[in-house]
Amino acid sequence: MSQQVLGVIAPGKNEPVRVETIVVPDPGPGEAVVKVQACGVCHTDLHYKQGGINDDFPFLLGHEAAGVVEAVGPDVTDVAPGDFVILNWRAVCGRCRSCQRGRPWYCFDTHNARQKMTLVDGTELSPALGIGAFAEKTLVAAGQCTKVDPEVAPAVAGLLGCGVMAGIGAAINTGEVGRGDSVAVIGCGGVGDAAIVGARLAGAARIIAVDIDDRKLATAQKMGATHIVNSRSTDPVEAIRELTGGHGADVVIEAVGRPETYQQAFYARDLAGTVVLVGVPTPEMKLELPLIDVFGRGGSLKSSWYGDCLPSRDFPLLIDLHQQGRIDLGAFVTETIGLGDVEAAFARMHEGDVLRSVVQF
Ligand SMILES: NC(=O)c1ccc[n+]([C@@H]2O[C@H](COP(=O)([O-])OP(=O)(O)OC[C@H]3O[C@@H](n4cnc5c(N)ncnc54)[C@H](O)[C@@H]3O)[C@@H](O)[C@H]2O)c1
Ligand SMILES: [Zn+2]
Ligand SMILES: [Zn+2]
Repeated sequence: MSQQVLGVIAPGKNEPVRVETIVVPDPGPGEAVVKVQACGVCHTDLHYKQGGINDDFPFLLGHEAAGVVEAVGPDVTDVAPGDFVILNWRAVCGRCRSCQRGRPWYCFDTHNARQKMTLVDGTELSPALGIGAFAEKTLVAAGQCTKVDPEVAPAVAGLLGCGVMAGIGAAINTGEVGRGDSVAVIGCGGVGDAAIVGARLAGAARIIAVDIDDRKLATAQKMGATHIVNSRSTDPVEAIRELTGGHGADVVIEAVGRPETYQQAFYARDLAGTVVLVGVPTPEMKLELPLIDVFGRGGSLKSSWYGDCLPSRDFPLLIDLHQQGRIDLGAFVTETIGLGDVEAAFARMHEGDVLRSVVQF
């Protein structure tokens, strides 16, 4: 059995996205069908549309979502119909070499649904990050559903499903920001601002926000940045050094995904400091650095997938902190939109008009 619902498809490289009828199979073993309530527009969806991730068109976009479990496969026990869940793209396997070593947040063999969602003509869809939640309903692996308190609005909860978790985790889990640290964040969209929130939560003393858009810098300040630098008019490396006693920041988080901003991050950190790359580059990008500087400056150069999060540990914790008023996830939602507005939301994201547009069902 299966059912037909509406979803947003990226049909081909750089072609406009469109709403299509999609076929969602009933959940098989290990699977769940989720009635999506809200799904944020992440820059990674735009990367998919532009062919920057891979060529497996057509994509079913959307991956930053919350909703209610509608049905589960026969053997599923962790979630049940009616549960309010955030969808995650790290359903850990428990068996790969990383899980076996007690590091499930790096799991190398994460689960997605086995069955395929399709167009009405049978064309198989590639769900973005194994989720595909710009759709009224989506089929995922049951482990991709993380139960959280249903009191939180879906548009807010869903943000933890990708960008906000990636940013907070880039600061706390990957960058291991500690009390008293100086932190710089390059690129203050949804992900960068979440890194600022994470750095603040971890007790950073100084948080320097860098962007090329003054509107983004104003928001970054509201999120907890103590200093702002517009890198269109000011050299960010010089500015960050000046703001840190001439040394550079302990942790620099790159949330753009470009070689030139990575290079800024590399030189804007203190000796033995940490660079965290959370921005996603495209396949043709290359980085050139003097190897002597990589050696001589010491420290660590890390990449952060999904903020090195463990959804079952981190989603309920961050929801709890939100409910206590210690972080404000609601501040990330600029606007709520309909399923037909995703293409326009990409344009607004590109223009820097929004932090997060969230499709609400
Ligand atoms: N690692 C992960 O798990 C993960 C998860 C989600 C998103 N991402 C990636 O993070 C990046 C940011 O995503 P987002 O949703 O916040 O995007 P966004 O478009 O909302 O934000 C990007 C920000 O970077 C700024 N910017 C652009 N060029 C810049 C430059 N040269 N110098 C300084 N700032 C610059 C823009 O003004 C904007 O504020 C994307 O590459 C996205 O794919 C990574
Ligand atoms: Zn694993
Ligand atoms: Zn994302």
